[in-house]
Amino acid sequence: GVQRTLSIAKPDAVSKNVIGEIYSRFEKAGLSIVAAKMLRLSREQAEGFYAEHKGRPFFPALIDFMTSGPVTVQVLEGEGAVLKNRDLMGATNPKEAAAGTIRADFAESIDANAVHGSDSEESAAREIAFFFATSELCDRV
Ligand code: CMP
Repeated sequence: GVQRTLSIAKPDAVSKNVIGEIYSRFEKAGLSIVAAKMLRLSREQAEGFYAEHKGRPFFPALIDFMTSGPVTVQVLEGEGAVLKNRDLMGATNPKEAAAGTIRADFAESIDANAVHGSDSEESAAREIAFFFATSELCDRV
């Protein structure tokens, strides 16, 4: 069925000037962008968004990185959007990401890994609500 998922282009992708290429991959795969904005996350926002990872050894570095520069956050909509976006992104560690995926092509390290995508429909609902009011989600024909 048609799903929505939350995507983030991380500070490394923004500073490399590849957000357009990343959006293009979503669109070519049949995902529509139904909400989008650019912002610089505060530490409080980053810690809230990644609350499930609090206590993991990589958490401080994750928060430092995600607050190091602007990000874009977008809601992608389409058939099987959660899994489709994860397939487009590739493995979390770009060294393990399949050829042709966003992380294989644009990411440098497990921290600077270009993009985030919701891992389930439940996460997607929570993550979309973290960044967007319902009124900011635009219905597409
Ligand atoms: P993301 O999908 O944004 O979710 C949490 C992020 O933590 C992940 O992408 C990685 O960029 C980062 N990270 C760093 N080390 C690890 C790790 N060992 N396992 C999972 N995520 C990690």
